[in-house]
Order: sequence, then structure tokens, then C-alpha cells
Amino acid sequence: MSSKDKRRFMKRREFLQFLGLATVGGQLINLSSCSSTTPATLKSLPVSYQDKLEFLPGLDFNFLIKEREKITSNLEFGFNNDYIAFLPLEKDRAILWVNHEYVDPYMIKGWERTKENVDTEMTLVGGSLLEIKRENGQWNFVKNSHLNRRLDAFTPIPFAWPHKIKNSSTAIGTMANCAGSITPWGTVLTCEENYDNFWGDRNFAGATIEKSWVKWEKFYNHPPEHYGWVVEVNPHTGEAKKLVSLGRIAHECAATIISKKGHAVSYTGDDKKDEHLYKFISKSKDSLVEGELFVADITNGKWLSLDVEKQPKLKKHFKNQTNVQTYVREAAKMLGATPLARPEDIEFDPISGNIFVALTNNKDRKNFHGSILKITEDNGDYESLTFKSEEFLVGGSQTGFSSPDNMVFDKVGNLWFTTDVAGWDKNRPEYKDFGNNSLFVFLRNSGEIIRVANAPIDAEITGPMFDADYSTLFLSIQHPGETSTTEKRFTSNWPTGGQPQNAVITVTGPLLEKIVNGKL
Ligand code: FEO
Ligand code: CA
Ligand code: CA
Ligand code: CA
Repeated sequence: MSSKDKRRFMKRREFLQFLGLATVGGQLINLSSCSSTTPATLKSLPVSYQDKLEFLPGLDFNFLIKEREKITSNLEFGFNNDYIAFLPLEKDRAILWVNHEYVDPYMIKGWERTKENVDTEMTLVGGSLLEIKRENGQWNFVKNSHLNRRLDAFTPIPFAWPHKIKNSSTAIGTMANCAGSITPWGTVLTCEENYDNFWGDRNFAGATIEKSWVKWEKFYNHPPEHYGWVVEVNPHTGEAKKLVSLGRIAHECAATIISKKGHAVSYTGDDKKDEHLYKFISKSKDSLVEGELFVADITNGKWLSLDVEKQPKLKKHFKNQTNVQTYVREAAKMLGATPLARPEDIEFDPISGNIFVALTNNKDRKNFHGSILKITEDNGDYESLTFKSEEFLVGGSQTGFSSPDNMVFDKVGNLWFTTDVAGWDKNRPEYKDFGNNSLFVFLRNSGEIIRVANAPIDAEITGPMFDADYSTLFLSIQHPGETSTTEKRFTSNWPTGGQPQNAVITVTGPLLEKIVNGKL
């Protein structure tokens, strides 16, 4: 086995640590709450190239809602559904938040850049709030509920910051909402990722560094600096604010936990090649507005402060904290932050408390299949400024997955994760054996990685989220047919046989029950 191959396998010691196991005199002892180490007997689904959403036997799915379905008499569910948050209200009743990441113009009104077409697109991004109810074991959304709301590219959202951002205290709209999380105090964090697709981007010096893709700036003069923030939403009222405190990057997600000292600590990744991982330590237990932002030096296991008053290099260049927050990528690089292979979702292991970060891939550096990074804060303290990190799972033919993206832990600590190989790459030699994007589960008891579901052609499975009793798994089926070049030749016709559609689905069944109860 070459050293490269060795790296693809999780080290035995590391694997045992993840399981909460350790060896004493060569004998295994169980340090975790997992009750069984029985090997799993579950066989993965084969790789798929078909235009079908398929699951292992023992799992069933139902549609909850599809793109542009009416949620009230005048509001539509948005496009390209992504992150899902489940917020229980009472037994069998909950609020669901769903992100709407971006638009494929030709699947809406066409590529012609008229104000009318752009205006329609601008109502289809952002996020949706839906009331859902469970009857006979099945969750359904409640049309016309007073809790149903939309945030979109027209919604005014204030900056939670004492100074203006590009001459304004309020941004117009949220878009590029990719992943997110629920805070310990019950709000939703929805993360603005590829904002440059909508507004382009510029650097601190004011030079254009990215051009927009959908050209909304032709009709609206919104500064790119108003996007690329984490947005906090109250799911009961729809009230929102942009958290300047977490910096402006292509936020995939932000995951928050309470430290031993009782402060909220939020981890967030910048999903762009060679960008960074950040952590924010709040002064408060139930707010992310005030505190200190850090960036990861993975090589030396250090969190580097981005406080302009503590870093002379930053003070000299940026002058004030508002500039640092707004162009934080440039600040991170000045301090020597470690470039990463596109940090995406972040989750906390419910058993060990460790932090897991999906690193999708970095094709420019010939890292085609990515990995899942494990971070252990020193002294088990989320406020620690030093940490250890290790590659936990590495994508490739040995593990059977490529390009991990969204993740969720179940109640016994199995790690469910989805993959995101771009549709335009599927025929590249590096990717063709992996087939359609999939949902995997890493079974904690056995260490096996099982392919649980296959997406339709060119789709990505996103937003995995369990309900409160772990009997239903919510999934977004996003962008089926994304490489279609004309509405006359869709690469996918899922799910109706015509134009492909995004949908949120619910997954239930005896196999789900077995896995989430640690019986496999
Ligand atoms: Fe929107 Fe990083 O995926
Ligand atoms: Ca994603
Ligand atoms: Ca997640
Ligand atoms: Ca992705």
C-alpha cells in the first residue's frame, strides 16, 4: 500500500477514538455510550447513473413540497431547495425552514435578462418558513398557515453591527443561501455562499475580482458587500439580521455550540478553493452579535485572532474592524491562515463533542475526492485557541464516496453525509466511477460506510435533517438536470417526466429506525 493509499484509510487509532473506544493492554474498552460493536450486515446501494431517486430497501420517501408550490395564496416555495431546519412546536407540529440557494434562469422564465425575468428570479431565492404537521406518521406542510413566510432577494435585512456596511445599515435581500444550522437558542442561521454569482465581487481596494453570472446588477445597484454574511432568522416571526460578526465569505454554514464558560461559539467555513475555516467566540450565551472572530491555522493547530486591535498587520492595512469583517478573506491570508479544500458543512459529534468539517475537493490541487476533517479543541474547550486536527474519512475508491458536502449526526452518533460532484464533472475520468451524487451513512458501531440513497441525474442531495424523534429524515433534492443547456433537452426529467423539479422529501421506514437506534 502506498503512503497515499494509507492516507485514504482512517488510522485504526483515530477510528477507535471516534468510536469512543480505546485499547488497554491490547483489549478494547468501550468509552462511549454505544452499546454494541456488532458488525453491520447492510450492503450499499450500487452506484447509479439512472434518472431515479433510489433508496436501500427498508427506506421509503414521500414528497413534502416541490419548487414554486403555493404556500399561501400569494407566496411560492422557492427554487433549488438546500438546507432544512426542523423546529418543533409541539407533538406532531413543527416549523420547517428551507434555504433556496440559487436559480437556473432557463428553468424559470429564460436566460433573457429582462427586469421581469430577474424580478421573478429574485422572489425564488432566500428561504421559506412552513408549518408542518404529522398525521399517521407522515409529515405534510400546512398551506396558508400564518407561520408560512418567505425571505427573498427583496426582503430588507438590517446589519447587526454598530457601523454601516457600504453606506447602509440595511441590506436588500438574502440569496445564495446554502447550508445552515439551528442555534442553541432556537433561531436559524442561513448562510449566504456564492453571492458573487448574483452581484459579482470586489476586493478591499475596490477592484472587481468576480463577475456576476445571473446579472441582477443590470437592474439593481446592490453592493456585493451586502452579501456573503450569515443571516439569523427568528422562525416564529421571520425577523432577520445579518451577522457581520462572523465575517463576509462564501459561508457554507455556521454551526454553534455553548462552551464550558457558557459562551456561544460558532464555526463557519468558506466554500471556495484554498479558503479558510473560522470560529467566532461570542460574549453571550444566546447571541452572535458581539465577540471575537478567529481563523484556523490548521498546520500549527492555532486559532488566529482577526481583532484589528490585536494584529498590527491588520491595523496598518484595514484601519478598522468593519473593513476586516467585510474583506475577511484578505485579512485571514495576511495572518497565514491555512488554505483548505473548500470547507463545507460543519457538525458536532454528539458523543465526543468533536467538530467535523466536510472538505469537498480542490481540483486545482488534484484533490478530487475531498475528506472529512476532525477537529478536537484542546482541553475539550470550544474557547481554546489551540486544537488538534486529523483527516477522519478520505474520499476515493477505497471509501466509495467523492466530494462530501452536507452532514448530520443521528442520536447514536452515526454520521450521515451527502456528496456533491458537480454535474459538469461527472464524465471526467476521476469521477465517472462514482455515478450520481448520493447519501451515505458512516455506521459508528462497525465503521462501515454505506451508500443509502442515489440522486437522480445531475442532482445533489442536500439539507439532511432529522425530526425531533429521529423517525423521519428530511432531504432536499436539489438541481436535477443542472447541466441541461436548453429546455428542449433536459438531462433529467425527475420527478414527473417533464421539466426537472427541486423537491423536499421525507424519508421513513424500518431501516431508518434500526440505524438511528444503533441496531446496525
Ligand atoms: Fe452551496 Fe458549498 O455548496
Ligand atoms: Ca452545499
Ligand atoms: Ca448539517
Ligand atoms: Ca457543494
